[in-house]
Amino acid sequence: MIWTRYLLCFILGYVVFVAAAYQASSEEYQYVKRLPEYDPQYYPSSLWELDNAVRLKKWASQLRFGKRSGNSWASQIYSHEKWFFSMEDYETWLKAFGPEDFNLIVAIDTKLNKVIGSVAVAKYPGADGSESLVALGLYFVHPDHRKKGLGNELFRMAFKDSHFVGINRGLVAVESMVAKYCNAYGYDKISSGKAVTARALVSDLQLTNLFIDEKIQVLSLQEASRLIDFENLVHFDMENNGGLNRGKYLNAWLAAPNSISSQIAFDENGEIVGYINIRTSIGNDIGVSPLIAKSPEIASTLLRRGLEEVHDLEQYRQIFFFSLTDNHTARKIYVKLTVGTLIPVATCTPMYTEKLLPTKSENVFSVTEYTMCTI
Ligand SMILES: CC(C)(COP(=O)(O)OP(=O)(O)OC[C@H]1O[C@@H](n2cnc3c(N)ncnc32)[C@H](O)[C@@H]1OP(=O)(O)O)[C@@H](O)C(=O)NCCC(=O)NCCS
Repeated sequence: MIWTRYLLCFILGYVVFVAAAYQASSEEYQYVKRLPEYDPQYYPSSLWELDNAVRLKKWASQLRFGKRSGNSWASQIYSHEKWFFSMEDYETWLKAFGPEDFNLIVAIDTKLNKVIGSVAVAKYPGADGSESLVALGLYFVHPDHRKKGLGNELFRMAFKDSHFVGINRGLVAVESMVAKYCNAYGYDKISSGKAVTARALVSDLQLTNLFIDEKIQVLSLQEASRLIDFENLVHFDMENNGGLNRGKYLNAWLAAPNSISSQIAFDENGEIVGYINIRTSIGNDIGVSPLIAKSPEIASTLLRRGLEEVHDLEQYRQIFFFSLTDNHTARKIYVKLTVGTLIPVATCTPMYTEKLLPTKSENVFSVTEYTMCTI
C-alpha cells in the first residue's frame, strides 16, 4: 500500500515537472528578444532591452483591430494620435495587398494580454509588374511602453519577411521622426513636398464656392465602370502617383465600406482627367482621399460633385484634406470651400530608402492616405 502511494507521488511529481518544463520552454519561445537578422547598414545597434513579457507577432484578424465595442487597437491609436483611418482599414488593406504582401505586426504584453504596439508593411507592384515600393505605417507604441526599444524592435521585425527585402522602402514621417528614420534606417531620399493635413467643420463648407468646369463630365465609379475598363483608371493613377500599379489596392479602397463617394472626371474626348474618393474615418469625420486631377479646375469640379454625392453630408463632424506643399493650388481650393476656416493640423514628409517616386505633385490635390501609401 505504502509503495503504491510512493509510486503515485512519483508519477504526479514527474507530470508536474514535465508540465513546468514545457511551460517554461513555450514561454521562452514566445518572447522575441533580438532578431537574428541584423543588418548594420540599416539598423542601429540595439541600445534598449525588450521587456521580457512582450511578444511580437503577425496579426491575422480584424477582430481586435477595429471591433466596435471596447477598446480596439484602432481606437487606442486614434485617441492618442488622431490619425485619419477607419475601423475597417485592416480588412481593406488585407484585400488591397493580399495576405502575402501585407503584414501587421503587433507587440503583445503577454501578462496583460494587451496589444501595446504595432507596425504595418505592404508591397506595391510597379508599372511593369516588378516590386517597386514597400510602404510602412501604423507605427505606434502605447505611451506607457515607449523608450524601451520596442519601437525599434517592431520596425526591424516589419522587414524581416524575405518578401520585403531589397525593394525601395517608403513612409510618411511625422516631423519629429524625419531625421531619425534618415539616420537610423536609411530613409535618406526625402521629398521636397510635405504632406499637410488640414481640417474644417463640415457645417462651414460652402459647396457653391467651388468652380465647376462645364466641359468636364463627372460620373460615379459605378456609372463609369459601365463605360470604361477599370484599368484605365489604374493607368491614370499610375501616371500621377510615380509609377506604382495600385490596381488591386484601388479596387479594395474604392469599394471599402467606409468609401462614401467615388467620382471620375472625363474630358470632351472621353479621357479620364481626374478622380476623387471621399471616405469616413473614426470619429465621424470624412476625408478626401485621394483627389487627383489634371488641373485645378478639374479638381474643383470633382470636389464639388464628390461632396454633392455624399448622402446626408451634414451628419459628419469634420472634413480632412491631405495636400502636398508643392501643389500650389490645392490649399486655395480648400480655403475657398471652407470659407477661410481651414486649420492645418500636421505636416508629414514622404521619405524613401532607394529613390523618390516621380509623383506629379501638381496633379495630386489630396493624397490617398498616410498609412500604407506615400501619396
Ligand atoms: C515612434 C514610436 C513608435 C517609437 O516607439 P518606442 O517604443 O518609444 O521606440 P524605441 O524605444 O525603440 O525608441 C528609442 C529611440 O529611437 C527612436 N526610434 C524609434 N523608432 C525609430 C525608427 N524606426 N527609426 C529611428 N529612430 C527610431 C525613438 O524616437 C527614440 O528616440 P529618442 O531616444 O530620441 O526619443 C513611439 O514614440 C510612438 O508611438 N510615437 C507616436 C506615434 C508616431 O509618431 N509614430 C511615427 C509615425 S511616422
